[in-house]
Amino acid sequence: VRIVVAGFGRVGRTFVSHLLDREEQLRLESGVALRLVAVATSRSTWLPPEHAEPAPLRAAIAAERFQRLPGRHEEWNAEEAIRHVEADLLVEATGGDPRHGEPATTNVRAALEHGLHVVAASKGAFVHGRSMHDLAARRGLQLRVGAAAGAALPTIDLARYALAGTRIESVEGILNGTSNYILGAMAASGSAFADALHDAQVIGAAEPNPELDVDGVDTACKLVIIANAVLGADIGLDDVPVHGISGLEPEDLERAAARGRTIRLLGTLRRGGSGWQARVEPTPLPLAHPLASVSGFEKGISYTSDLMDRVTAIGGRSDPNGAAAALTRDILNLVAVLPEGLSSPAPL
Ligand code: HSE
Repeated sequence: VRIVVAGFGRVGRTFVSHLLDREEQLRLESGVALRLVAVATSRSTWLPPEHAEPAPLRAAIAAERFQRLPGRHEEWNAEEAIRHVEADLLVEATGGDPRHGEPATTNVRAALEHGLHVVAASKGAFVHGRSMHDLAARRGLQLRVGAAAGAALPTIDLARYALAGTRIESVEGILNGTSNYILGAMAASGSAFADALHDAQVIGAAEPNPELDVDGVDTACKLVIIANAVLGADIGLDDVPVHGISGLEPEDLERAAARGRTIRLLGTLRRGGSGWQARVEPTPLPLAHPLASVSGFEKGISYTSDLMDRVTAIGGRSDPNGAAAALTRDILNLVAVLPEGLSSPAPL
C-alpha cells in the first residue's frame, strides 16, 4: 500500500514513526506491506528516495520538520502531492480548525477524485455533512474515519461491525479525553482547571487550540463524524447545540457527588422523527451508568439498539500513539475488505 501522509504534526509524525518501527512486523503478521511514498504539509512535500535509510527520517521526526531531508519537493503542498505522486492511500492528518474544514477537505476530495483510498485522523472534512462519504461510495473507494472519531476507542467499528444488522436508536459518548481528565482532576482534588489542562497539553491529548476540547466542539465533531459515517445521517456541526465545561466550578462537581452523580461532558445522538438529534453538554450521570467509570484521558461510547439493547466500550485514551495506531488499524481493516486488493476506482 503506497501511502501519502498529509500533515507532519504530532499524529502524522507518530504514524510515520510507527511505520518505521513496525513495517516489517505488520507485513509478516497481516501480509500487508505499508510503504511511505510522500509526506506533505501545506508548504512542501518530502518524497522518500528508494531504500532510504531510516536514521535521517527518525531525526526529522525528532526535530518535528523534514526540511533537511534529501528528496524534498518545495513546490508541492499536500494537495499537489496527492495529485502527482503514484499512491494507493491518503493518510489525512493535517491540523487546522475542524470548523473551517481546511486543508483537510481539499486533501480528502483530491484523494478521492484521484483514486486514493482515505484514512483520516483530522475531522474537518467530515463535520459538514456526508459529502465525502458519498464521493467515496461513487468512486468505489474506502474512506475510514475511526481515527478522527475517538481513535483508539472503537466508536465507528463498534457500530459498523459489532452492531451490524441492528437498528441503533441512540448513542451516548464521553468522546473527549482532555475534558474528561480535567473534570476528574477537579472532582478529585478541586484542582484548578488550568493545571489539568496543562497536563493534557503536555501528553498531547489536547487540541492545538484547547478551547475546542473544553468548549465541547471536539465532542460535537466526533458525534457528527459517527452519525454521518455509520448512522446514515447527513448532519453538520451547525446542527449540534454545544455546551462545554469551562463554566463548571469544583463546587458543581461536589454537589453532583453528594447526590451520587458524576458530571461528564456527554455527547448524545437520538433518532427522532426528522432524523438524528445531537447535543453536547455537561451531564450528571448516576454512578451506575456504564459511562460513569470512564477515567482520566479515557473515553467511552454506549450504543442502544433494538435487538442488542445497550453495548458499551470504554478506554482508548487520547494521545498521539492511540491516534496513529488507529490510522494503521483502519488501513489494515480497509485493505482486508478490498475484493481484489488495490484495484482501479470507478471513473469520476
Ligand atoms: N483532543 C482530543 C481529546 C483528542 O482530548 O480527546 C483528539 O480528538
